[in-house]
Amino acid sequence: MIKAKKLYLETFGCQMNVSDSEKIVTLMKGMGYGQTQEPGEADLVLLNTCSIRATAEQRMYGHLGKFKSMKKKRPELIIGVGGCVAQQEGEELLKKAPFVDLVFGTHNLHLLQKMVAGAEAGKKSVATDFLDDEKRFDLFPHAETEGGVTRFVTVMQGCDNFCAYCIVPHVRGREISRSADKVVEEVAALAAAGVTEVTLLGQNVNSYGFKEDAAPDFAELLFRVAEVDGIERLRFTTSHPKDISARLIDCFAQIPKLAPHIHLPAQSGSDEVLKRMNRGYTRADYLAKVRALEEACPGIQITGDMIVGFPGEDEAAFRETMALIEEVRYADLFSFIYSPRPGTKAAGFPDEVTRKEKQGRLELLQAAQKRITLERNQSLVGSVQRVLVEGASSSGDSLFGRTGGNRGTVLHGDLALAGRIVEVRITEGLQTLLKGEVVHA
Ligand code: SAH
Ligand code: SF4
Ligand code: F3S
Repeated sequence: MIKAKKLYLETFGCQMNVSDSEKIVTLMKGMGYGQTQEPGEADLVLLNTCSIRATAEQRMYGHLGKFKSMKKKRPELIIGVGGCVAQQEGEELLKKAPFVDLVFGTHNLHLLQKMVAGAEAGKKSVATDFLDDEKRFDLFPHAETEGGVTRFVTVMQGCDNFCAYCIVPHVRGREISRSADKVVEEVAALAAAGVTEVTLLGQNVNSYGFKEDAAPDFAELLFRVAEVDGIERLRFTTSHPKDISARLIDCFAQIPKLAPHIHLPAQSGSDEVLKRMNRGYTRADYLAKVRALEEACPGIQITGDMIVGFPGEDEAAFRETMALIEEVRYADLFSFIYSPRPGTKAAGFPDEVTRKEKQGRLELLQAAQKRITLERNQSLVGSVQRVLVEGASSSGDSLFGRTGGNRGTVLHGDLALAGRIVEVRITEGLQTLLKGEVVHA
């Protein structure tokens, strides 16, 4: 009997990589590789990598070291690196880690089967060419449509914004929107497989269709997706504040299925820093969009990203970021210490903020946000929220779901509620969770 081949796949970084990894699993299944969670059992190890910050990249190299010793003991083990570090490093990666067999970039998933077959025959390969047209979506296989409660659907890839600190445009290529018909088709297939919620995914979904003349804009796409029967809740991520239009804001008032949550990263509260970041909006523009969203959708939960210690961020600029989070009162905030990335504009800026100052600022920001998040969660106590039940909670004795505002909620009830939106009275607001009781199922 032929032994079944096994794939061990590790995914780092954002939802784009998670989505690509689903496709990788489907592709490798087509070559007879079943998935394993045990690297020791694997015939093929693939790392789908992230290079958004230097720490992410270092972590990947650290990880790769583990597989080096494994390969020494089992030379037939195939090791591949894909995703954003692979795209950035290309051939270099083989030099730094000569035990690696294949390096595939972010636009080269369609070559993966050929590359793995080559590696099985002892041939190393590198593929990092960009494929900057809509064909890319067709060349990339779809992940197998299986059910689940909530799924991501890619509507666009790449980014043209070139924020001064960001490596994404360099490793994901130019922005391309997928045809609206294809998006609706995929959402309909997911609905038919029992999916209740979809999140439309892209680096900057707000500029969906901008480059494609005849294409609908993102607001129109939302209307079309909302018409799909069986889909009861709709989300999207990520938004760029400069591109969020009045029409899109109005969708929150017009489309009942659209969940009252938006991830709207500000990155800084200082106009001067925003300008140097090349973000294309001012603090006042940002706050005006926030207010318009709150008007269109009272109670909307806003989350964001913030960078501290960007070159030239002095104490006064940092205080403006602190003031912004108090003004917006984010439901949640992801905050990062600025990390210079190769090839980006800011990598050439003098980086005079010391490591210690950056760390101190991050701690202040995170402490303030922690308080705001807790206060906001507590303020929901007594309210009735529409919670989409995703399944059993991690402790196993209750259910876990999310409110429209994307707050994780634990509740008691029958597992048969999975995939349903139920009305839940919130009884407790904790730091990272809400607790509640079902009032209407
Ligand atoms: N397309 C998304 C962001 C993707 S990266 C958007 O524009 O919102 C996710 C977050 O990582 C960014 O929002 C930013 O806050 C952070 N980030 C990106 N590059 C960074 C860098 N060089 N150093 C620190 N944080 C960074
Ligand atoms: Fe990076 Fe800016 Fe593009 Fe977001 S919009 S991916 S932060 S360049
Ligand atoms: Fe990381 Fe690439 Fe996403 S750099 S954040 S995995 S687009």
